[in-house]
Amino acid sequence: MRRPFIAANWKMNKTVSGTREFISSFIPEVKDVTDVDIVIAPPFTSLVVAAEELKNSNVIIAAQDVFYEEKGAYTGEVSPLMLADIGCRYAIIGHSERRQYFDETDEIVNRKIKAAKRGGVGAILCIGESLEEREAGKTFDVLEREIDKGLFETDTGDIVIAYEPIWAIGTGKTATPEQAQEAHAYIRERIGVKYGNKGDEVRIIYGGSVTPENIDSLMVCKDVDGALVGGASLKAESFVRIVKFNRF
Ligand code: 13P
Repeated sequence: MRRPFIAANWKMNKTVSGTREFISSFIPEVKDVTDVDIVIAPPFTSLVVAAEELKNSNVIIAAQDVFYEEKGAYTGEVSPLMLADIGCRYAIIGHSERRQYFDETDEIVNRKIKAAKRGGVGAILCIGESLEEREAGKTFDVLEREIDKGLFETDTGDIVIAYEPIWAIGTGKTATPEQAQEAHAYIRERIGVKYGNKGDEVRIIYGGSVTPENIDSLMVCKDVDGALVGGASLKAESFVRIVKFNRF
């Protein structure tokens, strides 16, 4: 059985006080949830505060990015060592917004994943096709390339894969459960081809306009093991409902 993994990606939202506010109303509502990995990825400026506030809770802290060097003259960057030091368990790597606005290539994504793992930080590897790629029938090609290159010369230990079709991010246009299941099944098959039985173990989560209204129908899908939630994770009440999705 794969343990559900429900993660909030706050992107460039929330100050420290907004983070504290969220956490104080969120924690009491989810403290009894024992069968889900609940993850919050605040911006870097809120990470330390979030890590402290969530220390003895059932909520895991993640970063939204990480650099591939351990230390040195890399102005503006944050290393896996620094994340591990504050108790950050995961880093989101290769989000489509980073690929799109910051020119992150599959090679950079791969270096970040390897560095994170070396530093004891798990990776949430984001992959997914654009609308043009989907319409051109290239979805599986894109997924294959992003998996093969992203995980080049590394293994699947401590990796969660987030399938985030770019056309569904922040658009209100969620993939249908059928579209999500089809892509997730393909990703699992591809992991299976590369890593044998690990295909059954790796958690594959869906991201792209996940809301309290659609989480239940997505979580029913056989190969959907959780969600990476942007907009709907910014309000505690809404993210609580997503974490407490209905098990049919
Ligand atoms: P939205 O949930 O706002 O569509 O964002 C999804 C996402 O990019 C999560 O990483």
